[in-house]
Amino acid sequence: MDHNSVDVLKVREDFPILKREIHGKKLVYLDNAATSQRPVQVIKAIEEFYSQHNANIHRAVHTLSSESTELYEEARRKVRMFINAKFIEEIVFTRNTTEAINLVAYSLANTLKEGDEIVSTVMEHHSNMVPWQMLRDRFGITLKFARLTKDGHIDLDHLASLVSERTKLVAVNHVSNVLGVVNPVKTIINIAHDKGAMVLVDAAQSAPHLKIDVAAIDCDFMAFSSHKMLGPTGIGVLYAKKDILERMEPFLRGGDMISTVTTERPTWNKLPWRFEAGTSNFADGYAFGVALDYLNALGMDAIEKHEHGLANFTIKLLEERVPGIHILGPKENRIGVVSFYFDDIPHDLIGILLNDEFGIAIRTGCHCAQPLHEFFGLTGTARASFYLYNTLEEAEYFVNALEEVVAKLRK
Ligand SMILES: Cc1ncc(COP(=O)(O)O)c(C=O)c1O
Repeated sequence: MDHNSVDVLKVREDFPILKREIHGKKLVYLDNAATSQRPVQVIKAIEEFYSQHNANIHRAVHTLSSESTELYEEARRKVRMFINAKFIEEIVFTRNTTEAINLVAYSLANTLKEGDEIVSTVMEHHSNMVPWQMLRDRFGITLKFARLTKDGHIDLDHLASLVSERTKLVAVNHVSNVLGVVNPVKTIINIAHDKGAMVLVDAAQSAPHLKIDVAAIDCDFMAFSSHKMLGPTGIGVLYAKKDILERMEPFLRGGDMISTVTTERPTWNKLPWRFEAGTSNFADGYAFGVALDYLNALGMDAIEKHEHGLANFTIKLLEERVPGIHILGPKENRIGVVSFYFDDIPHDLIGILLNDEFGIAIRTGCHCAQPLHEFFGLTGTARASFYLYNTLEEAEYFVNALEEVVAKLRK
């Protein structure tokens, strides 16, 4: 396998949905930041699991239960390797990024006291903001947000000025789902650790597109979702350093997360199961592992390079061909997310016409990042987001279509 480039035509054969037509036009799917499509390998894995291996995990002595448990735990080992975590105990399966972040918020809650601070940025997805607002409102901690530079970087000087010995946690996204910018998380983690604060990295938009190495960046927590990286919905990951997890309160309580229970009290199960109460989503967990195999076979470096090429090509063409377009985010250090707006055309009309007349799926609105839009004085944007199966031809088709739509709406 050539790990330097993605053979995009071959890859596309694995994604049945890409053969669909929308209003008589070939689907061009550019809403990957919301959720990716799934390859046939993942779709088949789900069918195979339910046809051959389905039984509840961790509980029974029968063959199906051992198979099911082994497949689920094998997926956990694949996640550990995918992000280069040291210990298997550090990989907690959740429903998605949002649940992983809430797990941290609720589990940290009883360790916080008035006067403690959490620092975040105005760039965050609501999932990495609303849980911290809950802690502020219920526990009287202070929540501070670093501002951005005009071209869409986190203002690192401002962030550093907000972090102090009172800071318990810095919560920051690795890649913005609106700006596409890759944030310097290692620098941010150094700033936080110097003051004794922990760092949570929201990797929902980076894990699908970049090589992740939690050991190298030394984050304390990381959260991401399977559905944005070719895997099923309903399964996500919280990575947390083992010694921190050991000290954290369980988030949800019930079956499987206990070691013993009397009518008086329970004792907790070992890590990571202590944080996985109730019947886990083991079928989708298994299929998520298959999605990781798919990404690994292509190589994350090749995927990153492919998307980088698509984004640069698209941005250049948009600037050349579409008058009055404003593109958010910096020119460098970005992945394949391209958000844009016009002063004279509502973004939702663009989304509707691209879909109805050209079969192009993009996203319009505030992309669950209202404070970010407010920061730039906007109510919303249109967003095209690419993944490993998108082609330069699709990017050009999108730019041509946008040019036509804009001309039509200005008539
Ligand atoms: C940066 C970022 N964080 C968090 C999320 C939330 O992910 P999920 O809905 O899978 O929990 C998203 C989803 O778009 C995102 O882009």
